Amino acid sequence: MMMAATKAAPIRLFVAALIVAAAAAADTYTNHTVGGDAGWFFNSTANKTSADYTAWAANTTFNLGDYLIFNTNTNQTVIQTYNKTTYSSCITDDALDSDTFQYDGGRNEFGTEMTISVPLTIEGTQYYFSDADDGEQCEQRMAFEIKVGHGLGLPPSLNQPPPPAYVPPPGSANDEGESPPAGTVANTPPSSNYAVMTGGSFFVSVVVVLISLVGC
Ligand SMILES: *[C@@H]1O[C@H](CO)[C@@H](O)[C@H](O)[C@H]1NC(C)=O
Ligand SMILES: *[C@@H]1O[C@H](CO)[C@@H](O)[C@H](O)[C@H]1NC(C)=O
Ligand SMILES: *[C@@H]1O[C@H](CO)[C@@H](O)[C@H](O)[C@H]1NC(C)=O
Ligand SMILES: *[C@@H]1O[C@H](CO)[C@@H](O)[C@H](O)[C@H]1NC(C)=O
Ligand SMILES: *[C@@H]1O[C@H](CO)[C@@H](O)[C@H](O)[C@H]1NC(C)=O
Ligand SMILES: *[C@@H]1O[C@H](CO)[C@@H](O)[C@H](O)[C@H]1NC(C)=O
Repeated sequence: MMMAATKAAPIRLFVAALIVAAAAAADTYTNHTVGGDAGWFFNSTANKTSADYTAWAANTTFNLGDYLIFNTNTNQTVIQTYNKTTYSSCITDDALDSDTFQYDGGRNEFGTEMTISVPLTIEGTQYYFSDADDGEQCEQRMAFEIKVGHGLGLPPSLNQPPPPAYVPPPGSANDEGESPPAGTVANTPPSSNYAVMTGGSFFVSVVVVLISLVGC
């Protein structure tokens, strides 16, 4: 018994290495353009969104280190939240600084084109919506939910994303300084967690290989 196990050891390591290499090669980081070619737009005359964002999100796989790319203009906002209550309310008035972030880029006129890139840095469920027009866009489904998987884990460049600066949307009722959320780095899990997770999944791979070899 002991002899067989000792002889098998190099094979086990080889197979484990193959599995880890295959998992890494099977996947890369992806930039997802929200709504596809239709982008992130709300037509207030037609009172509707340019794409069905719920269907778009349901048909897309999201992982840590991916980006959401919002092709839009300043008539819409990009709010990210981890709080379902805030998402369901369609407004940010009562939102907490710790779980809700605004990603708009500092312009104040209507209709100015902008591209907003949002890195996915936390696993699990998160929500996006536009709170422009006092939440009416969001109520017309300018909103979607995604679930972020582990994938390859966070790349080192995203372990400490800078917090987005808050800029009030044009025509916002909150201009007098009742500021909706600005980001905080505290929301990002420390990088050591990712190291532990990576070690953990390697360990799981090795155990799986060991079990299957013992089975043979
Ligand atoms: C994805 O978007 C980010 C942020 O805009 C950018 O830095 C990166 O180069 C893009 N990656 C690809 C593969 O286009
Ligand atoms: C918005 O919708 C109206 C009416 O359906 C249409 O005439 C107009 O071209 C649309 N505007 C944009 C910017 O797509
Ligand atoms: C948009 O449509 C919804 C119902 O679908 C309605 O409640 C709302 O008043 C409409 N808004 C405008 C500006 O037409
Ligand atoms: C889902 O995505 C695939 C590939 O990106 C596309 O071919 C397909 O039409 C999409 N389906 C829906 C329902 O959007
Ligand atoms: C979610 O946000 C609401 C305000 O929109 C706040 O009252 C509530 O405490 C938040 N929930 C959690 C779990 O932080
Ligand atoms: C942006 O909103 C303004 C004010 O509601 C409107 O006049 C303009 O047509 C909109 N622009 C686009 C490109 O939708």
